[in-house]
Amino acid sequence: MSSGATSPQQRVGELRAQIAHHNERYHTLDDPEIDDAAYDALARELRALEAEQPDLIVPDSPSGQVGGLTSTAFSPVEHRVPMTSLDNAMDRDELRSWADRVVRGLDGETPTFVCELKFDGLAMSIRYENGQFVQAATRGDGRVGEDVTDNVKTIADVPHELTAPGDGTLLSAVPPVVEVRGEVYMRTSAFDRLNARAVEAGERPFVNPRNSAAGSLRQKDATKTAERDLSFWAYQLGEVIDGPEFTSHVDTLNWVGQLGFPINEHVKRFDTIDEVATHCKQWQDERHALDYEIDGVVIKVDDPKQRDILGFTARAPRWAIAYKFPPEERTTTLLDIQVSVGRTGRATPFAVLDPVFVGGSTVGMATLHNREQVAVKDVRPGDLVIVRKAGDVIPEVVGPASQNVRPKGSVAWEFPVDCPGCGVALILPEGAADTRCFNPDCPAKRIQKIAYFAARVGMDIEGLGEQMIEKLVGVGLINDAADLYSLTVEQLIALDRVGATSATNLVDSIQGSKDRPLHKFIRSLGVRHVGPSASQALADTFFTLRDIMSRSVEEMAAVDGVGEVIATTFSQWLAAETNRELIDRFEAAGVNFGDPDAAARAAEAKAAIPQTLEGKAVVVTGSLPGYNREEAALAITSRGGKSPGSVSKKTLALVIGESPGASKLTKAEALGVPIVAADGFEALLATGEVPRAALESHDSEPESERESD
Ligand code: IVH
Repeated sequence: MSSGATSPQQRVGELRAQIAHHNERYHTLDDPEIDDAAYDALARELRALEAEQPDLIVPDSPSGQVGGLTSTAFSPVEHRVPMTSLDNAMDRDELRSWADRVVRGLDGETPTFVCELKFDGLAMSIRYENGQFVQAATRGDGRVGEDVTDNVKTIADVPHELTAPGDGTLLSAVPPVVEVRGEVYMRTSAFDRLNARAVEAGERPFVNPRNSAAGSLRQKDATKTAERDLSFWAYQLGEVIDGPEFTSHVDTLNWVGQLGFPINEHVKRFDTIDEVATHCKQWQDERHALDYEIDGVVIKVDDPKQRDILGFTARAPRWAIAYKFPPEERTTTLLDIQVSVGRTGRATPFAVLDPVFVGGSTVGMATLHNREQVAVKDVRPGDLVIVRKAGDVIPEVVGPASQNVRPKGSVAWEFPVDCPGCGVALILPEGAADTRCFNPDCPAKRIQKIAYFAARVGMDIEGLGEQMIEKLVGVGLINDAADLYSLTVEQLIALDRVGATSATNLVDSIQGSKDRPLHKFIRSLGVRHVGPSASQALADTFFTLRDIMSRSVEEMAAVDGVGEVIATTFSQWLAAETNRELIDRFEAAGVNFGDPDAAARAAEAKAAIPQTLEGKAVVVTGSLPGYNREEAALAITSRGGKSPGSVSKKTLALVIGESPGASKLTKAEALGVPIVAADGFEALLATGEVPRAALESHDSEPESERESD
């Protein structure tokens, strides 16, 4: 939301940083924080500001960027033909303006349009050499993706060997190089089966088919991917050497189909944009009749020659557009309003609904956010309400339906006085938005705390979902996260509906979590304010939890990325008797508390190397020649410097290697942090000064190569 006091320049900086953050959440971490509509709104605002003031555009702005950064687990693959994204049209008018631009670009000629469904999965480029499957790569940032060859090889729809179309025409041979692009997705039926199995095993269910497809592709062990039943639709070609010349996109698709790929049956040609718009509207209404999720319709110009004339912007082809469906809304009866209590004691009201089919699944509960939201929306049990799936993921109650008729004398819903988890009085602290339960022994909080500890981003205990925790707390087997480590297979088997295999797997994953790095453990403790970056900074500085516990508030606060609030809260938390006992029990269980020798080794190294970077923070992004990630960090820390994971005002310089991360670059630019090219790294280490000659000049950088084909 733009505030009146912010200058366009500041706002552009903010937007770039936010977009880069959400790109990372969505594309790299598969864990979006906001829905598509909210993301699109940010991207639009940025584009509008950049269009108004083109001098604010920088070559690396996320507005010209395709999407996520690459995550580190898989090796990078450079796309020989960039994998661009698509621009969106949100309604009929935007679709018409796109068509107008196309017609203008073609000097008044109206093209034939091809409509395809917009599959909600992950874009994939699959490369064949001499007809043999050699590599599969995700889109990544459009230029560099991740190598997921082994995982994609397990998808039955994807041929390992191409079949020559063999119809005796020019198109009959398989070219020496062919890249087929399309969408990896999970059928709704496969998703339902997967979730049924997850629930049975007491695991957290997946949010939607797209997320589970993404998670399945990210498995390090391809046999796991193979169990997930993924599918593929081909819709485009990447690099092709010595291939046939096509005169239409539909012919291209037919040819790709003959090579052995599944081509979706709902591909249709139209001569006018009005027909296209009607077709889009029709799919908007019929989307749920399919056994896979679609979030729109993609419209492409059919003739390759016309595509060449239209070309690309920095971000997307001018010859294609994605018509995005609006979030769906449905009317149903609000049966009840209940309150759930989270890890920190926050009490969140939610709606219990007469189950209604919206956005592809049946919804029986929806969030109402907080006390004030219920009051503002003034929804009451018995009301007819409108339900929407925000970003087609989290259902929410929009408000009373227009046809809602309330009986006379109906009264507004009242927030409960006592915690539904423990019965102790709830408190709304003065000036706060959230009502909380402050009882430290509240079982509802306890369950959520353990779930936070076990979460994927924390100690990553596979198979320990909320339902299983509820069960374990319910029967009194565990009271807190430290109790997890003494659970036995026998105890689990004795529980209702837990088999021997899942019991063994769960105990194995609990025991395996003991070796997580110290920063993950600190973060998993769930101490207020002590999030991932503060945990990392503390672990990197003091090396062991015991050392951290011996430090004063001042010493902790002096760590870059920590500060006074975090240091005070953490210190107080560590000082409490019950928490000390908890920590002792984790230690006795053998949880990794850090390496006590690491501090001595660091001191030794420090004595031998000139401390040129004493007290200075240098952030590295991308790969530097001669260093891997750890070595680059060590080169900095061994000279007395800090190597935090993110850029802040205090950063001395951001060093950029090959394929740098967009979010770091954006942030450095927004904060005016000097950007140093890879060849300036040695000088920086040697002198502790930002080398003048190596400063990256972003203004003189050539236009992105995505600008052309
Ligand atoms: S064509 C240069 N066709 O939508 C054109 N993309 O928002 C590249 N998508 O990255 C894309 N269905 O992951 C194309 N029929 C379809 C599609 C499709 C889904 C995805 C794809 C792309 C994203 C852009």
